[in-house]
Amino acid sequence: ALVVRNRMRSSGKWAPVAAVVKELEGRCATPVGKLRQVADAMTVEMHAGLASEGGSKLKMLISYVDNLPTGDETGLFYALDLGGTNFRVLRVQLGGKEGRVAKQEFEEVSIPPHLMVGGSDELFDFIASALAKFVASEGEDFHLPVGRQRELGFTFSFPVRQISIASGTLIKWTKGFNIDGTVGEDVVAELTRAMERQGLDMRVSALVNDTIGTLAGGRYYDNDVVAAVILGTGTNAAYVERAHAIPKWHGLLPKSGEMVINMEWGNFRSSHLPTTDYDQALDNESLNPGEQIFEKLISGMYLGEILRRVLLRLSKEASFFGDCVPPKLEVPFILRTPVMSAMHHDTSADLKVVGKKLNEVLGIPDTSLKTRKVVIQICDIIAKRGARLAAAGIVGILKKIGRDNAVKDGGRTVIAMDGGLYEHYTIFSECLQCTLKEMLGEEASSSVVVKLASDGSGIGAALLAASHSQYLQPVLS
Ligand code: GLC
Repeated sequence: ALVVRNRMRSSGKWAPVAAVVKELEGRCATPVGKLRQVADAMTVEMHAGLASEGGSKLKMLISYVDNLPTGDETGLFYALDLGGTNFRVLRVQLGGKEGRVAKQEFEEVSIPPHLMVGGSDELFDFIASALAKFVASEGEDFHLPVGRQRELGFTFSFPVRQISIASGTLIKWTKGFNIDGTVGEDVVAELTRAMERQGLDMRVSALVNDTIGTLAGGRYYDNDVVAAVILGTGTNAAYVERAHAIPKWHGLLPKSGEMVINMEWGNFRSSHLPTTDYDQALDNESLNPGEQIFEKLISGMYLGEILRRVLLRLSKEASFFGDCVPPKLEVPFILRTPVMSAMHHDTSADLKVVGKKLNEVLGIPDTSLKTRKVVIQICDIIAKRGARLAAAGIVGILKKIGRDNAVKDGGRTVIAMDGGLYEHYTIFSECLQCTLKEMLGEEASSSVVVKLASDGSGIGAALLAASHSQYLQPVLS
């Protein structure tokens, strides 16, 4: 009788667990047909966003970068990278074709969370003060010609409407930043004022999104780079577009005939996207409801949070972690994507990493192997949906630029990739690669290369600062 009762109790728990997981799996499914629809929708929205301002959820922002680095850039330049949980300051001595990046140094500073939701001046003062300290530590191997002002490439990884290479107004905050009084302001002016308050004499020569920085940095090292994708806290892409394919551009046609576009693809949405009640609830309760829907399915800020929501439901509805709901499981964003990734990559027989993380992070001791296996299964569903959607986004871009078919000339199409999610979440990046192959076919995909360009965006911003330096002599051609 005891055996029967036990069996009943266990099936009493596991049947609803299995049902919830199965439902999740069904709703997150991304068969290749669906991914093609997503890719096609991406291409369609790209056209619409280029056609007119506000023509699409995809803003397709004009970056004012119409020339990518050539390798000829020389001099001392700084870069500042703001847009994730950390910000970085960097200095490089560029030596032209011969010297390349002769010397570089950087520092990374984490942003105190209260500054991400505080006032504008507080955030910019914090950044400018860290930058001032960094500049003060400049050694003698860096060389600034006498009488010159230091110049900076400012990577600001949020949607910005630019009116020149070195100015632009913030359209909205994303990725958990929510600072009063900055939307609609020129972020270069904000930073410049903060630098002045610090007594730092420096000029912002280029304002760039991280995707643009990554594209520029990528191109510096590889001529075949045509697009950049970020998969980190947030997600986004940029690519080189033909200027005459941008109907909303009313300025002069650039000499190069090209313009780099910051897609802000995180804001993409489509009825073809596989979404669940968890996604809906996450969105409703987020700082930016209705916005950044693609990003909320894919990027590092959200994957762990989706996992938490699924586990919470399992805990509430199927006593997944025992009779009580673990209180920590109720805390939004407590389960971060690096923790999810660590669990997902656990290959030990008893899944001890999963057990350890559940205990350490969520205060859930003594989980059974069966429970841990289910956790991994859920990680797998969530991570692979994200990776496959990101791949579909890339295929959308390749279609737009006509590089989704096999090339006969042996040419390469290189996508510069950056971001902690892609860099550290191996199952995610491998799944993305496989999905690209699956979508493009063996032959076409052999010419498409996704190249990790870790922190290429810092160098990229410095290079763009160099090519837009106030001291540059106009080249007479
Ligand atoms: C968010 C930002 C975007 C940035 C991306 C990656 O989507 O809106 O500007 O490029 O995150 O950092």
